[in-house]
Amino acid sequence: MLRKLIAGNWKMNGLRHSLDEVSSLIQKVGKDPKADILICPPALLLMEMARQTKDSPIMVGGQDCHWRECGAHTGEISAQMLADAEASHVIVGHSERRADCGESSKIVKDKAEAALAAGLVPIICVGETLEQREAGEAASVVREQVEQSLPAHPKSEIIIAYEPVWAIGTGKVASAGDIAEIHALLREQVGAAIRLLYGGSVKPGNAAEILHLDNVDGALVGGASLRAEDFYGIIKNS
Ligand code: 13P
Repeated sequence: MLRKLIAGNWKMNGLRHSLDEVSSLIQKVGKDPKADILICPPALLLMEMARQTKDSPIMVGGQDCHWRECGAHTGEISAQMLADAEASHVIVGHSERRADCGESSKIVKDKAEAALAAGLVPIICVGETLEQREAGEAASVVREQVEQSLPAHPKSEIIIAYEPVWAIGTGKVASAGDIAEIHALLREQVGAAIRLLYGGSVKPGNAAEILHLDNVDGALVGGASLRAEDFYGIIKNS
């Protein structure tokens, strides 16, 4: 069994004082937590958070990166810059970026490859919309996103996060059966070595059920990662 990863995605939340939550989390998790722990803060907090967590088991990551190493791309952040800021992972292809910024799976794939080239572990997000699920297309949409978003030479140093779009930030969690079904298909598609995370309204109260399903190797947590108490509640239940 793969060791679980509990990853927090702060999205566009968090100011400098939010780092107090990280100090509190460091205290709570101690030296030997049950799971690997990652926080992906807004880019401006990354270096300070990396410094803060240096002697703790908590890793830090980016929420996105550009597909090019450097150059004339105003406002963008490269994978190399994230690595230089001591990030270990980077989320790519989050559904909010696929929707807000029109990111295609081809772009996501290029970003994942840029992440690997910079020595980062890409967390590649996939997931269907409510419309697609209701049309019975969830499995085929996810399969196609994986086919098109994975780096050309997938290695075990990538992670896939299944995040049904309709379950993100809505309080609606996919049922255990729905999660198990998609994760079993993903496992078949990508093999045993790649960690598969579930994301979408994971909270302390539902974490144990989700994290103990077959083929679920961790969670990608949005809202409940912002407060140490909630995030630790999920880690404890992993
Ligand atoms: P919520 O946990 O807030 O639903 O967000 C999930 C998510 O999108 C993590 O990337």
